[in-house]
Amino acid sequence: MTSFGSHTSRRSFLAGAGSAALTTLASSRAHGSVPALHEFRFLAAPGRARLTGDERPDTNVWCYSGRVPGPEIRVKQGDRLRVVVENGLAEETTVHWHGIRLPNAMDGVPHLTQPPIQPGGRFVYAFDLPDAGTYWYHPHARAFEQVGRGLFGALIVEEPGPPAFDRDLTWMLGDWRLTPSAEISADFGNFMDMSHAGRLGNTVTVNGRVPEPFRVRSGERIRLRLINATNARIFALGFKGHRPRVIALDGQPVEPHAPDAGRILIGPAARADLALDMEGQPGESFAVVETFYTGAPIKLLDIRYAEGARVRESPPADDVRLPANRLPEPDLAAAERHEVLLGGGMMGGMQSATVDGHTMPMRDMMRRGLAWAINGVAATDHAHAPMLTLARGRSCVLDLRNETAWPHPMHLHGHAFRVISRNGAPAPRREWLDTVLIQPKERAEIAFVADNPGDWMFHCHILEHQAGGMSTVIRVS
Ligand code: C2O
Ligand code: CU
Ligand code: CU
Repeated sequence: MTSFGSHTSRRSFLAGAGSAALTTLASSRAHGSVPALHEFRFLAAPGRARLTGDERPDTNVWCYSGRVPGPEIRVKQGDRLRVVVENGLAEETTVHWHGIRLPNAMDGVPHLTQPPIQPGGRFVYAFDLPDAGTYWYHPHARAFEQVGRGLFGALIVEEPGPPAFDRDLTWMLGDWRLTPSAEISADFGNFMDMSHAGRLGNTVTVNGRVPEPFRVRSGERIRLRLINATNARIFALGFKGHRPRVIALDGQPVEPHAPDAGRILIGPAARADLALDMEGQPGESFAVVETFYTGAPIKLLDIRYAEGARVRESPPADDVRLPANRLPEPDLAAAERHEVLLGGGMMGGMQSATVDGHTMPMRDMMRRGLAWAINGVAATDHAHAPMLTLARGRSCVLDLRNETAWPHPMHLHGHAFRVISRNGAPAPRREWLDTVLIQPKERAEIAFVADNPGDWMFHCHILEHQAGGMSTVIRVS
């Protein structure tokens, strides 16, 4: 019998209905190995977690299979995943596989792509993994509370031939609003958080723990996968004494480069893969610092070098280049263009928005727990009329204009998009993302091929903003 969180992997699974798809995948795999089927069973339920260390009380959380973060899924590109999710919570849930280009029915959006999983119910997610990279999973039902209480986990899709690193590590960043007795403050979804910066906590964790020193050895080359699983916290991370190279963003390889201004900017839901060469000397210690909100550095953790033997004299000199995923290239000349205005929030000057088909003054919106709009429409729970319908295969440019006083990490489901410009200037690397952080009053153009049929969410990943109306649907038909 499988137990909760258990994982079985069957290479050569080539029987029954799945065989056609698997055979196709096998022939398209670069390195010729047979795709594996990986099966997990997850229980979403209340649990206890030692977030703040051994000397402090445990915290009541909601989590997958008893752990924060949930079990790390690690599979190979082209493999197939099957996850049976059981709901042990007292409310509806779903699981969304953030950044994965999967069939719409597996996308985990309640009422849009599936009925929510009722308490005591279950849902089976099964899909192939077309792209290598760093992804994650989380609920899409009342996400502002469910994610904020601990429901999130990493989904790592390895390249067919693993790149040359001594270690491949994940730092999943969490942010918690804890009371003095280390319990989660229950003030989820309050209007103050919703209409300003979102729910910022007071305790940052790495992989579900207040970070301890990160132990390394001189000469090591580490792949560090940063995943921002917080509701609302933006990080700008600096690695003192080191020269990290950014090698992938939101799972998609990027030309290796030093982070702009020496800081790795990573908004909610974003991922950054770093090649981190351990250039320090045995016994040395360096801080990793966060500077987004204060400017003054706040220490996240220390990188601590072991005494004694080195892994090698110095890390290799060459950059690690990851093989590109096969993403459809948007045809910019032929693309249809759409303006997308982000409005609302405190100090944004929005007077009213359309709510359930009617114009509503901001004052009344606030009473309904709404504060944001996309193209003048504030989304409510069950309103899923598409803002845009795109013909399948069409190239599309979205001209995103942030008219608010707050940053917004805007996320598109089911696709990856290229960032082609910011404030009118061409983006230097035209990176592929699934979540683009747009600063107050900033403008960004993104482009993608609408090749995945279905109704796809497009929303702010500050989860309080999403709940407060900054959400819409793009239909590909
Ligand atoms: Cu990571 Cu619609 O979400
Ligand atoms: Cu997503
Ligand atoms: Cu937002």
